[in-house]
Amino acid sequence: MANTINISINGFQVEVEKGKTILQAAESQGITIPTLCYHKDLCVAGNCRVCVVEVAGQTRLSAACATPCDEGMEILTNSLKVRNSRKHIIELLLAEHNADCTKCYRNGNCELQKLSSEYKIMTQDFIELAPLKKYSIDMYSPSIIKDDSKCIRCQRCVRTCAELQGVNALTVAHKGDKMKITTFFEKHMRDVVCTNCGQCVNHCPTGALVEKIILKKCGKPLRTR
Ligand code: SF4
Ligand code: SF4
Ligand code: FES
Repeated sequence: MANTINISINGFQVEVEKGKTILQAAESQGITIPTLCYHKDLCVAGNCRVCVVEVAGQTRLSAACATPCDEGMEILTNSLKVRNSRKHIIELLLAEHNADCTKCYRNGNCELQKLSSEYKIMTQDFIELAPLKKYSIDMYSPSIIKDDSKCIRCQRCVRTCAELQGVNALTVAHKGDKMKITTFFEKHMRDVVCTNCGQCVNHCPTGALVEKIILKKCGKPLRTR
């Protein structure tokens, strides 16, 4: 039985291994699809929808990271509909984000900032919106600061702590616009089983998690707002 299937990506016929997702198929052809909640080290969450693509015959856009390729699939990764949808998603994320980038230690190395720039969204436009929402900053851990005003709730940190470290110090609480990344009973990070390994910081796409030692080295203020 053949182990490959034929699909088309942006009008080009390609042969891909069975079981590959659209994201993996595109990557194998050198086509970049933006991602945020996806990380190659972690299981697929499919919650940010930044990776949406158009699949012929389907009215809804599909999340490339979570959709397996099927024989004969015709995929568009960069159509106007796709780009507009991604732009709206990034705008929504920014509307709830403390986008005071110049004061952030991830300035110039932030996945959200990079996408905003690629999709021509001015992060400064959202600085005034972010303070409308109350955020907490947990500074009590000996090594890590968790700043919810920078969190996009991609859950990469939660999956990192559970899947890579086997610790489960982080979790998701509440639903809808109250959803947040927190710990057991919403305790401070110093009061849970966190081993201060720093892996969640390494896998966070934004400045929501930071090692205190990094802030000291780069001379950024400990409190961001
Ligand atoms: S520092 Fe390590 S143990 Fe603590 S929350 Fe992050 S990944 Fe989990
Ligand atoms: S802290 Fe970072 S990795 Fe965790 S959900 Fe927020 S943005 Fe994602
Ligand atoms: S990267 Fe695919 S849904 Fe987030």
